[in-house]
Amino acid sequence: MERRPFGPAATMVPVIGQGTWYLETAERNRAIAALRHGIELGMTHIDTAEMYGSGQAEELVGEAIVGRRDEVFVVSKVLPHNATRRGTIAACEASLARLGTDRIDCYLLHWRGQVPLEETIAGFEQLRAEGKIRSWGVSNFDVPDLEEAVGIAGEGVLACNQVLYHLQERAIEQAVLPWCESHDVAVVGYSPFGHSRFPGARTSAGRVLAEIALAHNVTPRQVALRFLVRRPSLFTIPKASSLEHVSENAGAGDLQLSNAELALIDAAFPLSPRRRGLPTL
Ligand SMILES: NC(=O)c1ccc[n+]([C@@H]2O[C@H](COP(=O)([O-])OP(=O)(O)OC[C@H]3O[C@@H](n4cnc5c(N)ncnc54)[C@H](OP(=O)(O)O)[C@@H]3O)[C@@H](O)[C@H]2O)c1
Repeated sequence: MERRPFGPAATMVPVIGQGTWYLETAERNRAIAALRHGIELGMTHIDTAEMYGSGQAEELVGEAIVGRRDEVFVVSKVLPHNATRRGTIAACEASLARLGTDRIDCYLLHWRGQVPLEETIAGFEQLRAEGKIRSWGVSNFDVPDLEEAVGIAGEGVLACNQVLYHLQERAIEQAVLPWCESHDVAVVGYSPFGHSRFPGARTSAGRVLAEIALAHNVTPRQVALRFLVRRPSLFTIPKASSLEHVSENAGAGDLQLSNAELALIDAAFPLSPRRRGLPTL
């Protein structure tokens, strides 16, 4: 599994991690086995949130990482309505308890809400000073929000921006991705399979993926994951609750595509025209 520096702290993080949204809807032992299998295959970046299953996803992650805490890079998120200074600290402490750990590697604001960003960042900084989080970042932030965050926190603090990014939704490439690259902020793409809208094999774009996959003896999903991490700032976090899906996703971790193949995918899934606002799921 390829690993690369994540944000300004340059912690080495695998390019492909594991999402956990709706993981609690799978049978419990199956969900935990899937996460553990993913860790064994190098997908040690585990993304969760207090929102997912109202804390149940964090509890599953907590079980999956027992005895392996030092191997994993755990990310969780505070809900915007909890993100006052004191609320952020309380939410983090509740997440730590559900995760069964004393620290979160990167703690994110799930999306921009009504609470002033100064408040949330003050909470993050206190948590960092106390060692309860190693770093912090944001999610679903467009460029003006990112500018505001850096204006408050200063350069070299914001670890990542987690945003919607899949083959049929490449809007971040217009402005968010270049901004993050110029500020050394990692870009974590969520819903890499479009949540449940992966391009079908009978579509012309789906056929492009299938042909490239055939040439490498891999699957179209593995080709898609590799395209989504083709730049050094990019990471992706597919969610899977079966061992087969986990193995397939991890298999993209060392795939190499040529520039010609990347160009074919780029042409098959063109960028939409620039528009206002950042799409979210
Ligand atoms: N920050 C945010 O606002 C935000 C928003 C959305 C998501 N996220 C994060 O990003 C993660 C990933 O996004 P997502 O869960 O929306 O969707 P996703 O990863 O694009 O797709 C998940 C779906 O794909 C299926 N799948 C996974 N691997 C597969 C494979 N190899 N072959 C066939 N199907 C496969 C899964 O099925 P099975 O479960 O049956 O394996 C599941 O139904 C989330 O879990 C969450 O951690 C963050």
